[in-house]
Amino acid sequence: MGICHLAAEYNKDVHKYFDNPMVRQVPEGVRVPAELKIANVSIRPATVLAPMAGVTDTVFRRFIREMGGCGLLMTEFTSADGVVRWRNATAKRYLHFAPDEHPISSQLFGSHADAMADAAKRIQDHGFDMVDLNLGCPAKKVVKCNGGSGLLRDLPAIREIFESVRKAVTIPFTVKIRAGWSERELVYHELARMAEDCGLDAIAIHARTREQGYTGQAQWQWIGEVKSLVKIPVIGNGDIITPEDARAMVAETGCDGVMVGRAAASNPWIFRQIAQFTADGRYEVASREDRYRMIHRYFTMLVEEEFPGALGKMKQFASWFTHGVQGGAKLRKAIYDAREPRHVVESVDVFFAGPVPEEPAPAGTALLDQSS
Ligand SMILES: Cc1cc2nc3c(=O)[nH]c(=O)nc-3n(C[C@H](O)[C@H](O)[C@H](O)COP(=O)(O)O)c2cc1C
Repeated sequence: MGICHLAAEYNKDVHKYFDNPMVRQVPEGVRVPAELKIANVSIRPATVLAPMAGVTDTVFRRFIREMGGCGLLMTEFTSADGVVRWRNATAKRYLHFAPDEHPISSQLFGSHADAMADAAKRIQDHGFDMVDLNLGCPAKKVVKCNGGSGLLRDLPAIREIFESVRKAVTIPFTVKIRAGWSERELVYHELARMAEDCGLDAIAIHARTREQGYTGQAQWQWIGEVKSLVKIPVIGNGDIITPEDARAMVAETGCDGVMVGRAAASNPWIFRQIAQFTADGRYEVASREDRYRMIHRYFTMLVEEEFPGALGKMKQFASWFTHGVQGGAKLRKAIYDAREPRHVVESVDVFFAGPVPEEPAPAGTALLDQSS
């Protein structure tokens, strides 16, 4: 199964972006915890970069770590069958990580308990701090083989995987779930209890169903329910766009840590902002100069590492990173027209060295640039 195709399927969703961003009330005194302990691994602060196929490769993860404030990095999901075959160069590439990425968790998807256990063991031997099971991926190709959210309709198969993987590894073993296949088939209560019974070390919940995709709002109350059902750490996920959202999620649900996905791709400062907001109730907002440095840095990392598919990646990120850049359309066009990765970097340099285009601040800026 081509992982790239799966990434493309996920990526279609990201364009839907946040359907209805909400302005949340942030109660005083509640903070995103400074630490989250998952078994023997300390995550400081209690913030997690969500696994995102086509996004959270080694370069992006290091870039996020460099921006500061992110406690745990996660790989893109990787096929357990691919890892087991190991000669599969793609899986090998997907599993590469650098020493400064610790703590890092590797996410697997699959549906066969034996292959999952074998793959998890290899993940452990490879030096990852944790292994995570994907029970949320809505991609049709994954679901068709009973992987990702497809398994949400087969709890006995999940139990078998939980037990086999648990036996196979000593590193922390976690699971990331959606709440169920549909509103009529919610399984998050059973799943959370089963995860705890089977000795898993934490559970992350994206508070939507498979059927929901990315539409509507994440149902944060589901995160709170999971928190009240189990003693293992619960990581809340879904629709955190601002530091205020992160704090509101902790306040509303009592979750032990927060996981941020899409917002990190358009606002890579989000983790640092959450940390600042936690420390003193305020956070810095990115200036035009900050945005230039950020885009230049990430693109330069891709060029320097001769990252496979760097040009496509830059074009993909162009639309997210230029959210909130005045004159962003012009910059995007220059990036889309470039034929070589280093030409993209040059066009970014030229754009930001030029005058600020006289046009109103683009929509979305306010949303990303909220400050307390
Ligand atoms: C482009 C993209 C790729 C994703 N890939 C994965 C993945 O590989 N594994 C996974 O568990 N979830 C994946 N997700 C889901 C996210 O991890 C996260 O649960 C979801 O985006 C909700 O969080 P957010 O509102 O902070 O974005 C992906 C989401 C997007 C947008």
